[in-house]
Amino acid sequence: MQRDLDAPSIENHDEIDLYARRGITLVRGEGVYFFDAGGRRYLDLMSNYGVAVLGHAHPAVTDAIQGQATRLLSAHQSFYNDARARFIEALERLLPDGLRKISFANSGGEAVEAALKYARAATGRERILSTARAYHGRTFSALSETGDPTHQTPFAPAGCRQVPYGDLEAARSCIGDAAAIILEPIQGEAGVHAGAPEYLQGLRRICDESGALLIYDEVQTAFRTGTLFGFQHSGARPDIMTLSKPLANGLPIGVTVVSDAVAAAIPRGSHGSTFGGNPLACAAGQAVLTTVAVPGFVEHVAAMGDLLISSLRRIKHARLRAVRGMGLMVAAEIDGDAGAVMAAMQDLGALVIPAGGSSIRFLPPLIIQAPEIEEGVAIFEEALRMAG
Ligand SMILES: Cc1ncc(COP(=O)(O)O)c(C=O)c1O
Repeated sequence: MQRDLDAPSIENHDEIDLYARRGITLVRGEGVYFFDAGGRRYLDLMSNYGVAVLGHAHPAVTDAIQGQATRLLSAHQSFYNDARARFIEALERLLPDGLRKISFANSGGEAVEAALKYARAATGRERILSTARAYHGRTFSALSETGDPTHQTPFAPAGCRQVPYGDLEAARSCIGDAAAIILEPIQGEAGVHAGAPEYLQGLRRICDESGALLIYDEVQTAFRTGTLFGFQHSGARPDIMTLSKPLANGLPIGVTVVSDAVAAAIPRGSHGSTFGGNPLACAAGQAVLTTVAVPGFVEHVAAMGDLLISSLRRIKHARLRAVRGMGLMVAAEIDGDAGAVMAAMQDLGALVIPAGGSSIRFLPPLIIQAPEIEEGVAIFEEALRMAG
């Protein structure tokens, strides 16, 4: 039995002060609900920034972790491993032909780092083009392609080129001898802005003409938008794709997927990771991938997303400016202080996260059902009223 302790005072005292804290201590989760240290229940409408796609304590994931924990936690990739091979097999079944070569990482930012290195290795070119308001992580290279200056300052590197998201002509005039353009098919942190199919198809053509590679950062979008991968809405395939958040339902994992042609140009030894592809994360990941692949799963996400978006759009409130989204990746744009609405929702027993300064982001577990969506929407409506 663990002794009771005061988590806030220890974390506040001993951690570098990097995060705006939410004031509650989460100790347990079950399905689409969290429980705090006092036993209070919260509806999870954010799955911890998009990771707990199967909800909390999902039996398939728990069994996989428990089983693997009794067998082997780590196996460096200079050795083969059965759990890793099973994960790879399950992921390959979801990926299109010709886009199935992967390497492992432990986070989204790391998967992006690898993607940028591979683009440079495969093209022999240096410059990477990215989009304004993009979010690709906080490591140095990922930061350089992240379009929000609040994340970059004071680490901004020289020589990065950014174009407005959605602006095909800007991309065309800027592409030049770039190695790649990196973007999210649907921008998440920026406030959930979907790239129009014509935009993504146009970028594909620009890349083909210029010899640049198209990199989709699907760290947040994978499995969530009503198709398995965000790029499937446009049909414009990437050369490189990054995956992470949903892959192991909360255990750290990242994957960089590349085309056969890109894979052939990456020298052995040019990248690696001690923990990458560890059997524990892979075992959890295989459970997730197997569940996501069940017929009807993606359709469920699309249907629940439609319900969430249409229910939010029915709310009439002067401060609700817009509702945007695809599948279960949804933003409600607030006139005024979105933080106050978020805080009121927490007081009322539902957790959401911010996006793009003025928006509230809904990234619920993908197993959410209609009554829980209705509960969340009612709490949001009440919070709007409470926050004025
Ligand atoms: C699209 C996208 N790329 C990369 C990242 C960075 O992932 P991580 O925080 O795991 O490094 C995020 C995180 O929110 C993201 O949304």
